[in-house]
Amino acid sequence: MCDFVSRNKDLFNELDKFIYSVKDNENKLMTTLHYAQKLFGYLPKDIQVYIAKNLNLPFDQVKNTVNFYSYFVTELKGKYKIKVCLGNACSKDDSSSILNEFERLIGIKPGETTKDMKFSLESGGCVGVCRKTPIVTINGRVYESVTVEDIPSILETCI
Ligand code: FES
Repeated sequence: MCDFVSRNKDLFNELDKFIYSVKDNENKLMTTLHYAQKLFGYLPKDIQVYIAKNLNLPFDQVKNTVNFYSYFVTELKGKYKIKVCLGNACSKDDSSSILNEFERLIGIKPGETTKDMKFSLESGGCVGVCRKTPIVTINGRVYESVTVEDIPSILETCI
């Protein structure tokens, strides 16, 4: 039994019961992945391997399904998912300075999550609202025309 499984034995016991209840269903993989993500909050490789083994499916089938649907997440994220747009329009308005300021204030780099699981930071391409750049989103909420000076007050809304 791998470390991750032994550290989360109770949750895997729950998952076992669920798998047993759906093992003959046609869509057992999707329903199990949904259930497992609800249970664990994410679907890292250890959980995918476990599901593949216990549903008697090839690991690649499980992995490809998880990767295909953006609903499934493979890394545990913070309560507040901050995304700074670095698309063309936002970059022209110096969105990299916005990103740098978030990094400085919460102490993490893009792709990381704070130890207290409060914030995850990401940067990425255009999010489709280029009218009032630069754009930041937090859990999908859009902040427009963000300045470096706005960032402390934006973070204060995350309580
Ligand atoms: S480039 Fe940032 S929202 Fe489009």
